[in-house]
Amino acid sequence: MKLIIDDAHIDQIRKIYEYYPVDGVTTNPTILAKSGRQPYEVLREIREFIGDEAELHVQVTARAAEGMVEDAHKIIKELGKNTFVKIPSVPEGFKAMMALHGEGAKLTATAIYTPMQAFLAAKAGADYAAPYINRIDNMGYNGIKVARDIHDIFRNNGFKTEVLAASFKNSQQLLELCEYGVGASTVSPEVIFNLVKNEAITSAIDDFIADFEGLVGEGKTMKDC
Ligand code: G3P
Repeated sequence: MKLIIDDAHIDQIRKIYEYYPVDGVTTNPTILAKSGRQPYEVLREIREFIGDEAELHVQVTARAAEGMVEDAHKIIKELGKNTFVKIPSVPEGFKAMMALHGEGAKLTATAIYTPMQAFLAAKAGADYAAPYINRIDNMGYNGIKVARDIHDIFRNNGFKTEVLAASFKNSQQLLELCEYGVGASTVSPEVIFNLVKNEAITSAIDDFIADFEGLVGEGKTMKDC
């Protein structure tokens, strides 16, 4: 499962890239608004930092298919062919996906709450389909089950489309999708920083260091022996 950062703050992205094995960055219009900066300014900075080969996902904002296609052309022109264009999984979006797939664009079908949306997006040529785990849970349904069902639909129908699960509240949701082996999950910095945060882990490492320093002297490590 690829692990992707769902954020547009370049300082957070830099920090996560330094400490965690991640595979790219996803954004949406709300995430861009939270950055407080102009969209292409911040997106170009992210692209420059993560490199041309890394995954960057950027959403169209037009409501009609023709406008979505125009948004997609601009996104690809500004940020490179390796940029995944996120398109809402609604009828206008399916129309745009079919047109853009025909042009060879990389596509992420987004705003997915139901397996049927994902099935139609896959048929329309999407490379990824993004179910919103936590938002589905908040509606009283099971977001993890929806993501698993979508994964099964893709495999059972021979689609190459992968799940790109989004909208996570905690590590447990992410772990359940790791176990199932979905294609990718995109996670906010807050959730990423809490993935490995546990008193037992910190305490075990503190004990190892204290025991070793008791043997060889305070502040000394293996290189000093
Ligand atoms: O792009 C979709 C995803 O980022 C939504 O996450 O936390 O706003 O539900 P959230």
